[in-house]
Amino acid sequence: VVIAQISDTHIKRRGRVLPHMPHVVGPLRRVPASIAEQPSVPSYILATGDLTESGHPEEYRRLREILDARVVTYLMPGNHDRRDAMREVFADSSYLHGPGEPIQYVIESPLMRVIAMDSSDGTRQSGYLDAARLQWLEERLPERPHVPTIIAMHHPPVQTGVRYFDEQPFEGREELARIVRAHPQIRRILCGHIHQMICRTWNGTIAVSSPSTAPTTELVRVPSEPVAVVA
Ligand SMILES: [Fe+2]
Repeated sequence: VVIAQISDTHIKRRGRVLPHMPHVVGPLRRVPASIAEQPSVPSYILATGDLTESGHPEEYRRLREILDARVVTYLMPGNHDRRDAMREVFADSSYLHGPGEPIQYVIESPLMRVIAMDSSDGTRQSGYLDAARLQWLEERLPERPHVPTIIAMHHPPVQTGVRYFDEQPFEGREELARIVRAHPQIRRILCGHIHQMICRTWNGTIAVSSPSTAPTTELVRVPSEPVAVVA
């Protein structure tokens, strides 16, 4: 199974200027061509949150118009998104319309599973997995315990080495760590949020964050502060 990931597309309304992210639409429009250049065609694309800048329905309509309809893109919410607007504009995407408020679902393939988690609570910038969301995860994992499984969600649970992000708390991180340690079929945790590629070992798995299609942040090395600590 080949999977492509995009993240933090931050699509804005027409005419709105984001000084810190002046180009969000153009780079996303180039994604289908970039994917087409790859040696294998992905079965689907994972979009790991912050799909829009402010969660306005018009932004989701614009996103929908840009996404390549020939490849299914599975959407996950980030801290900039609004679930009600996502569900309104992507009303025909049945996986978005499960029971309950958080958008969590499983993508099943014969040889692989992706478990999409909702790590945003709609009010805070930082990661949030409450007991109900984690219990849902814990109930999914024994369903196919021997199938390699990816957890995909917006917020990385790892220390990133970027102080701005590392000072944000991640509610539920310790409980997620416990679940991950207990389920060795979890081969990857795929995330976004920090607008840059990092890769860390974490509780027996590997957490990878994707760069953003909008301008990425840069790791700045401060001599007194190591950029990254790899556990
Ligand atoms: Fe984010």
